[in-house]
Amino acid sequence: MYRSRHKEDLDKRTLNFLSSINVDDKILYYDILCTKVHVIMLYKIHILDKDEVMRLVRELDTVLRYPERISREGFEDIHEALETHLIKKIGINVGGKVQTGRSRNDQVITDIRVKARDDIIDVIVHLISLIKLLLEKSEDHLDSVMPLYTHLQQAQIGNFAHYLLSYSEVLMREIDRLFSLFERLNQSPLGAGPIGGSLLPLDRNMTAKLLGFDNIMSNSIDATSSRDFMIEFVSNMSSIMITLSRISEDLIIWSSQEFGFIEINDRHASTSSAMPQKRNPDPLEIIRSKTAIVIGNLTTILTILKSLPSGYSRDLQDTKIPFWNSVELVVSSLDIINDVIQHLIVKKDVMMKASMESYAISLDIAELLVSRYKVPFRTAHKLMGALVNLSVSNNDETPFSSLSSSDIKDILLKVKANITVDKLIKTIREIDSKNSIRIRNSEGSPNPKEQTRIIRRRKLLLKRYSNDVQRKKESIDMIIENITNTINGIVAHSNSKS
Ligand code: ARG
Repeated sequence: MYRSRHKEDLDKRTLNFLSSINVDDKILYYDILCTKVHVIMLYKIHILDKDEVMRLVRELDTVLRYPERISREGFEDIHEALETHLIKKIGINVGGKVQTGRSRNDQVITDIRVKARDDIIDVIVHLISLIKLLLEKSEDHLDSVMPLYTHLQQAQIGNFAHYLLSYSEVLMREIDRLFSLFERLNQSPLGAGPIGGSLLPLDRNMTAKLLGFDNIMSNSIDATSSRDFMIEFVSNMSSIMITLSRISEDLIIWSSQEFGFIEINDRHASTSSAMPQKRNPDPLEIIRSKTAIVIGNLTTILTILKSLPSGYSRDLQDTKIPFWNSVELVVSSLDIINDVIQHLIVKKDVMMKASMESYAISLDIAELLVSRYKVPFRTAHKLMGALVNLSVSNNDETPFSSLSSSDIKDILLKVKANITVDKLIKTIREIDSKNSIRIRNSEGSPNPKEQTRIIRRRKLLLKRYSNDVQRKKESIDMIIENITNTINGIVAHSNSKS
């Protein structure tokens, strides 16, 4: 339809190669919405009359209701398909005016930004639901004692609540990041034209306001050809996926027979065609691989953008695919991990046994020696290292259980620790994995009291986030309502005049 100077049609194979029609259905709804707003503005600047507005809007509404009615055959994108449809249905004299003062370059990026707002809200709603679950689950697991790992080696004793809450912290920050991204991307490119604006008296502020943008983008080159918000968005999506992937990795490891800390519910466990005993954590493995895809999407977008000249180039079209795909993968992964965690079987007794057999209480004992007997920390560290070695070589079932007074005396002499055998034995016997998290009470530690305090605070913050996102949703609903009312106002005015 756009080929005003060409003597030949676009070669069919070339058309299929460059067309984005296959992915553009995701923005048809937004294209209709933004077109309605553009039509309202064209009416206000006297390019369209009331009757023309009515006919255009009526047909746009029909397409909204029956999207299958517009042909997608032979078009470069949904914008061309829609305009062609309007011209076919209501004639060139009316349909042919819809693209006045607008180029596909400002049009497509307006659609993408308006959709991206909805996408942000969707992701935030899913994040809130996962964090809510993590907070609730952590309340059930304040007493689920488990070893904490660094380098995947037993490090200190913690509890499952503290573990779950660690991820609620990261995910809260993701929400914060998304809210701030919302502000940056909620700027209107509409009216920027192909690259350099228009001589028509377009009212960019009016369309921006009707579409709920906070402002207009102040440079028409930037408006049509920048996609930095996509980099930011997909980088946020990658960050979320990395968190989900790390949770998945933990759960996969802990569900192995060697750990046995948790069991994935049957509803999430796949099996083997050959080995009937298998209960494989496939959905979590797929979250790990989807993470790679989202990170790859970020790389795709960065690479498309990196050497583009200023102004629109068709390459930009191909940023839409990795962009929307990332949002879809994040939303479905959040749904899946939510369900997996909700139905997770936590083996408290296995975790407890692993903790009771663990030397992860060594630092607690060393710190007690420091605080009680003024032993220099380095000496306490050496002392505990020697005791661990001896206990391990004795094959003790629980840490230090076999150590005799004479063993301990020898070690004390060797490390030159200024403390009596009795005091040392008393201190060692005082701490076990069960009470170690209660003795440790620094802020942010797994002490159940500390975790209870954090849960309370996080619930309040989460409530604030839910209210904020609810408000954003409502304001978007109002935008749609306001657009309809404005059109109805124009049409009613027209009727009263006729
Ligand atoms: N389908 C294109 C896209 O998604 C729309 C803009 C095309 N503009 C152009 N001048 N060819 O980016």
